[in-house]
Amino acid sequence: MSDTVALTAAGQRWAELLASWAIPDEIVARGEVPPWSHDPATFAMDDTADPSNPIFELARELLPVDGGSVLDVGCGGGRSSLPLFPRADRIIGVDASWAMLDQFAAAAQSLGVGHREIEGRWPDVAIAAEMSGSPLERVDVVVCHHVFFNVPDLEPFVVALTAMARLGVVAVLPRRHPMSAWNAAWKHFWNVDRPLGPTSDEAVAVLNALGIEPEVFEVPRPAMSRHAEDPALLVRSARRRLCLTSDRDDELAEWLRANPPDFTRDVVVLRWPGASDHEGPW
Ligand SMILES: C[S@@+](CC[C@H](N)C(=O)[O-])C[C@H]1O[C@@H](n2cnc3c(N)ncnc32)[C@H](O)[C@@H]1O
Repeated sequence: MSDTVALTAAGQRWAELLASWAIPDEIVARGEVPPWSHDPATFAMDDTADPSNPIFELARELLPVDGGSVLDVGCGGGRSSLPLFPRADRIIGVDASWAMLDQFAAAAQSLGVGHREIEGRWPDVAIAAEMSGSPLERVDVVVCHHVFFNVPDLEPFVVALTAMARLGVVAVLPRRHPMSAWNAAWKHFWNVDRPLGPTSDEAVAVLNALGIEPEVFEVPRPAMSRHAEDPALLVRSARRRLCLTSDRDDELAEWLRANPPDFTRDVVVLRWPGASDHEGPW
């Protein structure tokens, strides 16, 4: 059981399924870096970003013709929102990591888009701002790509995303847990059986339980978010995800050549209306 206090059975199920991905402490301690952490370099904006991809078109459809504003929650280096420029001319990035926000700020600056960075966990930063009497500014569209599977408390997370958006929210997530790509490797290197769920269906169930009926689109995973598959990065990301040390790189590389990780090929886009037609409070 997780210690998450969920409002609904769907929220509780999401939290419990995510909790089943916990890695035993003694294995985490053997790794060089935390297995859940992200290497900021792999989330930088690069020339593989394709602004015409449906994951951006679905957000762009909601934005005003010009002068739109976007909040990107879990923005990483900005790949989830900066392709919306110039339709959006103001983009606010929220991330728990300053290293990610530094990359976001540098990429936004070089594009020439108005930007702001907010460091902290969602929804805590939004709640803290609300409580302080200086609520975060509401935006036209909220985007949130590849973050849901990091969030056991999905209900308040989603409620706060919705509350910030005047026009709509666009969330992108893989169909299945991103770490499931490494399940066979976990069995091989640690003899540990890893779970499969939750999937994007359970995320939709959480939204439904909150009274949100999102549009659901399944689209091919864009090239830019396939960085983990880059052969030059594969051993390094496998080492991180599997709590292995660099002295096993040759063994790891050889195993990965024969057993390529089963990276998910599709992502699911969830889009629903925003709830904010005013500047706050919630
Ligand atoms: C997998 S990366 C995705 C980055 C970016 N959205 C993209 O699609 O390239 C997840 C990001 O979400 C951030 N993150 C995870 N949980 C968060 C939370 N509760 N609040 C804020 N940021 C979070 C991480 O620091 C990381 O930068």
